[in-house]
Amino acid sequence: MEKEILKNYENAKSASDEVIEFAKKLIKIGEKALDIAEKIEKKIEELKVKPAFPVNISINEIAAHYTPDIDDNLIIQQNDLIKIDIGVHVNGYIWDRAFTVCIGEKDHPLIRISEKALAEALKLIKAGTKVYEISEVVEETIKNEGFNPIRNLCGHGLDQFNQHTTPTIPNGENSIQEEIKEGQVIAMEVFATNGSGLVKESYPTLIYKFKQDKPARLWEARKILEASKTRFNGLPFAKRWLTSIATPLKIDLALKQLTQIDALISYPVLKEVTNGLVAQTEETVIVK
Ligand code: CO
Repeated sequence: MEKEILKNYENAKSASDEVIEFAKKLIKIGEKALDIAEKIEKKIEELKVKPAFPVNISINEIAAHYTPDIDDNLIIQQNDLIKIDIGVHVNGYIWDRAFTVCIGEKDHPLIRISEKALAEALKLIKAGTKVYEISEVVEETIKNEGFNPIRNLCGHGLDQFNQHTTPTIPNGENSIQEEIKEGQVIAMEVFATNGSGLVKESYPTLIYKFKQDKPARLWEARKILEASKTRFNGLPFAKRWLTSIATPLKIDLALKQLTQIDALISYPVLKEVTNGLVAQTEETVIVK
């Protein structure tokens, strides 16, 4: 990896260290998820780095892709299993991490097992390991404790201004022979559940990303599409980040239109199919 690129990753990682520490202190009973997300995003700004995607605060059976809505009233409750997923980038070089907390329960078995399975997976993330070998260790570690991995969620490669690239490392067993290569940057994430081990797209949708240029009828839609390329650099953005462009009603109409004409990709909330509780742990590594 070039020195210049490595420097960017190192800066993204050290900002991420600080943001994660800061975020851990914010999770308290009675706090609004919206306030937590905004404080974390403000911290990211203060550190002179940028969010690679909106702060995800996914609770209980929601595995991923929940970020607070405009005027969101969601409040942290006792015993909630809260997953915080944060990505920061420096010049497009992304550092992606997630942790889970359960207030009132210090040693939640799902949190412990997702951390353990991730640690086992990270031991294998080195040049020459095959993808299926990593997935196998994730599935076995979780199943040994009587829980399930979420088989349709995956660790993923990172690239400049690209949150999801090769390799894709599923949480469940598979036969992918692809090898991990030196120089790859991998966000490995493990999801453990007491449910059946699958997620499906659900409601609401609060995160979007630029896909392609298309002529949009609404003026607000054209402004949002422009911002998705320039202000957000083609990376995922939150609906609540658009309030400087339009009113909430117009934002909804514009996002609906942009999704319909295939100009934006939408990321609906991902929910465990049997409403099982989900814990997530994620770390980014550079393959040396
Ligand atoms: Co990730």
